[in-house]
Amino acid sequence: MSITSTQSEEETISLAKDFLKTLPKEKNCICLFGDLGSGKTVFVKGIAKALGIEGYSIKSPTYTLIREYTHKKGKLIHIDLYRLEAADDLITEQIDEFLSDKDTLVVIEWADRMTDDLPEERAEICFEYIDEKSRKITVF
Ligand SMILES: Nc1ncnc2c1ncn2[C@@H]1O[C@H](COP(=O)(O)OP(=O)(O)OP(=O)(O)O)[C@@H](O)[C@H]1O
Ligand SMILES: [Mg+2]
Repeated sequence: MSITSTQSEEETISLAKDFLKTLPKEKNCICLFGDLGSGKTVFVKGIAKALGIEGYSIKSPTYTLIREYTHKKGKLIHIDLYRLEAADDLITEQIDEFLSDKDTLVVIEWADRMTDDLPEERAEICFEYIDEKSRKITVF
């Protein structure tokens, strides 16, 4: 477990880049936990940048459950489960299908919406709002 505090959006983006370097390839699922505005989407933006994805939409995919981005070495799937009361079988199946391709990285915001069905091979990151500019980020 490692705990970091970031003091700006940019620092969270660079933390995401560093984190990605340490992530083993077989662990292709990242689950993000934390309240509204705690920095989850900013972190995903950092992941997208690190993968060389152009035109990443900064907005949370709040109305789009799943967003798919292609980069040189594979895909980034950004999922936001906020609007889901509980993950249904369909989304669980879809996530498993994405994960079966090891060149695909799946990042799930509000992963606590589906704690019973989370993929086994996963990294977990918790975001906490400290004040306007600082966030506590714990990587498990
Ligand atoms: N240290 C920081 N790290 C990340 N974001 C920060 C930081 N300081 C301020 N911010 C701001 O906080 C907001 C974080 O928003 P973000 O969309 O990433 O939250 P979120 O956790 O995805 O929320 P939601 O659950 O609504 O999707 C942004 O407006 C960002 O600019
Ligand atoms: Mg978000």
